[in-house]
Amino acid sequence: MARLELKNRWVLVTGASSGLGLEMARVLASQHGANIIAVARRADRLSALQAELESKHGVKVAPLAADLSRTGEPQRLCESAIAGRDVAGAVLNAGVTFFGRALELAPAAFESMVATNITSLVDLSQRFSTHFLQQGTPSGLMLVASMAGFSPLPYQTAYAATKSFVISYGRGLAYELRKTGVSVTVFTPGGIATEMLELSGLDRKFKAGDLGIMSAEECARLAVGAFVRRKELYVPGLLNRLLALSMKLLPHGVIISRSGSMYAGGLKPPS
Ligand SMILES: NC(=O)c1ccc[n+]([C@@H]2O[C@H](COP(=O)([O-])OP(=O)(O)OC[C@H]3O[C@@H](n4cnc5c(N)ncnc54)[C@H](OP(=O)(O)O)[C@@H]3O)[C@@H](O)[C@H]2O)c1
Repeated sequence: MARLELKNRWVLVTGASSGLGLEMARVLASQHGANIIAVARRADRLSALQAELESKHGVKVAPLAADLSRTGEPQRLCESAIAGRDVAGAVLNAGVTFFGRALELAPAAFESMVATNITSLVDLSQRFSTHFLQQGTPSGLMLVASMAGFSPLPYQTAYAATKSFVISYGRGLAYELRKTGVSVTVFTPGGIATEMLELSGLDRKFKAGDLGIMSAEECARLAVGAFVRRKELYVPGLLNRLLALSMKLLPHGVIISRSGSMYAGGLKPPS
């Protein structure tokens, strides 16, 4: 497949209010001249992004505030996004984690995680793929998973399972769409220095600047590169690729017990 050309076309980015999504929006606008449909719950941050990208890079930005954990939001979002716009891509990046003992994950938080990380992603990927196929111009989806989806991960147990779903679903969808003009990229980063580390308490164990924790800017540059080159599965960074290879070669039991003892070091004392 030829590279995706995004100049003056629109790309939707979910989770554009912080971290990887914010940085991907910046790279898409500054390096590819893409107009951005920026999605997240925090509307003030989306407005700030709009002002920044429109003044610095001369692109257009449409901020669309949405809570992807709520039923009906993907439909509303997709309909608003495509109305009157030439949309070339959808980067489905919004996600939440829970770091702690699996038994401490409240049912409502679990439901919200599944709705955000899985249900809305499937819904949006179906709606945008269908639209792209009808439109008939080269287009791409990118699903942001995680290396956590390559193996069970104690203390991010449910999160890792959601990301495992995203990898499996995305690769299956990529196969089904392989003969069309719609590419599907599954992006699987390792640790990234974003709000997610602090909000989840993972920063009790991992800090920005630690070996293996990538900056959001670097990760976004690599993610957008994989998206426009229409890679099917992309692990960013040599260290992560070596880790991914070792996860393939070593028995899962070894990986689980190594990661389990590493993550246990950052847990809060039992309540
Ligand atoms: N950080 C890591 O180490 C790491 C590693 C591998 C993969 N990832 C994945 O990378 C993606 C981006 O995460 P990040 O590290 O950049 O984290 P982040 O800084 O916390 O960003 C998460 C983004 O998702 C949005 N979001 C969360 N819940 C939402 C909801 N219900 N509706 C709409 N938007 C929602 C947030 O916006 P609002 O709060 O404004 O809604 C925010 O923009 C996630 O899918 C994550 O799983 C992260």
